[in-house]
Amino acid sequence: MDFLDTLIKKREGKKLTKQEIENFIAHVTDGTIPDYQISAFLMAIYFQSLDEQETAQLTLAMANSGETLDLSSVLGFKVDKHSTGGVADTTTLILAPLVASAGVPVIKMSGRGLGFSGGTIDKLESIPNFHVEVTQEQALQWAKQSNLVIMGQSKNLTPADQKLYALRDVTATVESIPLIASSIMSKKIAAGADGIVLDVKCGNGAFMKTLEDAQQLGKCMASMGQHVGKKITVVISSMAQPLGNYIGNRLEVIEAIETLKGKVQGDLLEVSLTLGAHMLLLAGKVSTEEQGKQLLLQNIQNGKGLAKFEQLLKQQGGDASIINDYQKLPLSSHKVYFYAPSDGYVQAMDTAAIGRASQETGAGRKQKTDVIDFGAGIVLKKRIGDSVTKGVVIAEIYSSTEKQGQNALSIIENAFEIGKNKISVPPLILDVIQ
Ligand code: URA
Repeated sequence: MDFLDTLIKKREGKKLTKQEIENFIAHVTDGTIPDYQISAFLMAIYFQSLDEQETAQLTLAMANSGETLDLSSVLGFKVDKHSTGGVADTTTLILAPLVASAGVPVIKMSGRGLGFSGGTIDKLESIPNFHVEVTQEQALQWAKQSNLVIMGQSKNLTPADQKLYALRDVTATVESIPLIASSIMSKKIAAGADGIVLDVKCGNGAFMKTLEDAQQLGKCMASMGQHVGKKITVVISSMAQPLGNYIGNRLEVIEAIETLKGKVQGDLLEVSLTLGAHMLLLAGKVSTEEQGKQLLLQNIQNGKGLAKFEQLLKQQGGDASIINDYQKLPLSSHKVYFYAPSDGYVQAMDTAAIGRASQETGAGRKQKTDVIDFGAGIVLKKRIGDSVTKGVVIAEIYSSTEKQGQNALSIIENAFEIGKNKISVPPLILDVIQ
């Protein structure tokens, strides 16, 4: 059957067969469907959607379109975690060593940042000599020794998703729940873990702006667990403000290390513990979320989490002395401040704008080919609900040039709402879907 028939069928809102979906992905992968037909098909899905079964079939076809990671030789229940992307979201660097130190293997393929959200791989690459390009054989060998590997996504992982994502990006079809769900889940399935905790970010610094949309995406991905034979938990967490106070690659590495040293409290720690506890729950290591959090907190207090992070750095060639010497993670030399314009309370933040400001400092890419300035970024001194007096520092901005600092400052100046009324802190964990 010609692909045009499949295209017409979806345009008319009809349900596709497994065979039609598999043919589509096979021909996207081998390049025999022209981009204009793929684009039209994506738009048809955007408007007509896919049901649960079609989404699961699309996901599995995409997962099998390239290399897959076989983790069966690593003993135990392997868990993975994925965030839909936010600002100052450094949870992987905190929870991966904590969960691994609790005896549950974490073998994680992570991505680079694009747009206003940062990528774990960029953060790790900001550590001198840390290698993210790891072969499957090497990853498996390390996982057996340390329970923990964090590596860049293999180039041949889900090639169909790579092709579709690039087209979605330029055809206004990114914001389709079945397309987002299948894109995320196909990569996670190909990466081979037995259980996956998904952190769906919700708020003005996330893809999903409303709880309703986040829940819809979360339910779509959670329901896929039954179709693809994986245990899945979805946590919906707030992106009404940056998660941590440090935004930028080296800055976020430092905040993660400080958290593993037990020196950071607050939202970043809370979300890391919640996601980590659900990873332990999926692996059967604990029987309640609270037990999981306690175990992870214990591994902060007794230093096991930090020791696991140190082991990860040494294993992948990184300079582990950075843990006690942040001078080895130099920040960019130009510094400007954003001062509170009036007395009052921080009422709200435009989180996406803060992410864009951090991009302007050089900490993020505007285009795939941009080179990141690892030492650039922003340190927030205030959070929503905090009181401020006129002239107090709200944010420090680090960049390599004055122009970058000024560009970032002009965005930051409009990203904070200061008002007279004392307000309560917004909830952080908005829902958990199992
Ligand atoms: N992240 C992904 O990997 N894919 C999407 O479609 C959206 C976010």
